[in-house]
Amino acid sequence: MKRLDNIEIVKANYENTKTLVSKYYIAHKQDKFLAKNFTHESLLKDINYLVDNGLGFVAIQNNISVGYLLGYKIKTLFFNESGIYSPDFAVYYDNDYVLYRLFEEYYREMKNESITHHAITLLTPSQDDFLVQLGYGLRVMDGVRFPHKNSPTDSLVSMIKADICDYNILLNLYKEHIQYMSSSPIFLEETNPELELTDILNDNDKIVFKILYMLEVVGFSVIDKLHAPGGKYFKDSETLGIKGTHILSNFQNKQIGSRYIELLDNYCIENGYNRLAVDFESMNYLALKFWSKTFHISAKTYIKYIGK
Ligand SMILES: CC(C)(COP(=O)(O)OP(=O)(O)OC[C@H]1O[C@@H](n2cnc3c(N)ncnc32)[C@H](O)[C@@H]1OP(=O)(O)O)[C@@H](O)C(=O)NCCC(=O)NCCS
Repeated sequence: MKRLDNIEIVKANYENTKTLVSKYYIAHKQDKFLAKNFTHESLLKDINYLVDNGLGFVAIQNNISVGYLLGYKIKTLFFNESGIYSPDFAVYYDNDYVLYRLFEEYYREMKNESITHHAITLLTPSQDDFLVQLGYGLRVMDGVRFPHKNSPTDSLVSMIKADICDYNILLNLYKEHIQYMSSSPIFLEETNPELELTDILNDNDKIVFKILYMLEVVGFSVIDKLHAPGGKYFKDSETLGIKGTHILSNFQNKQIGSRYIELLDNYCIENGYNRLAVDFESMNYLALKFWSKTFHISAKTYIKYIGK
């Protein structure tokens, strides 16, 4: 079908993505929340990798590249089904219509390859309305925080590093957490709490903090020193990642979690970390309220079911 808009959608290659990568870099390089690893060179490398290994299209108008959409093919993305994941840096467009045309071609190709889901991350503030019009729903939010030294208070909250000897103390808490995350409305896949907790406590790349209220353990938090959650360009070697935090339900909403973040800030400063990163399911109301209070929401991931 001949279009009147003179936009042509073609397969992405090194050449037709190059100027758009520069535009993306210029548009975001002042973003104070991006980490040091956000460089033009690294961006170009990522896009070239996607050109070679992922699915990617470029919109051309009057011989000029005006938008790109690329993504990684993932065997099980959500709901145990195949999908494509487009990180924030893999999407650039001059206007909504360009993105619409890119999506149109993208879905056609996904259908051909029987890929059922598309997940896309946009930096905030982003144009959620347009994605909602196209049938996307918000699924995951990423948060970033720059720790600062907090002075000691007379708070009754403290945190202590746990080890494998704390397994029994932590197990019920961990079970409550898994139960919470796998129930309505979140429905994350239920995992084996015993096995998972043992693995975490034995993993040298992770730290588990017991959170105490008046010397009673009422919560825990799992910290990942190497693999922080969230987008690639929001973390670096000085980032601590928060992988899961839970306060026993009887103790929630009493500022224990907030005080824990202050203590964690102090831990970061004392141990040379200058950034904390977290992600959470947007439908987790408690997490949304809690993390948005103390973290900058850096990116949002949306998902659309294309169909079989
Ligand atoms: C998220 C969680 C760790 C927060 O810890 P907490 O000790 O309850 O949090 P705080 O009491 O410090 O509250 C901090 C903010 O969270 C929000 N919040 C906490 N509980 C809330 C509730 N029941 N309803 C509405 N907002 C709530 C509020 O915005 C509150 O700020 P405010 O008191 O200034 O209004 C805790 O609620 C929890 O364990 N939830 C279940 C597991 C989970 O979702 N973990 C996070 C995902 S990994």
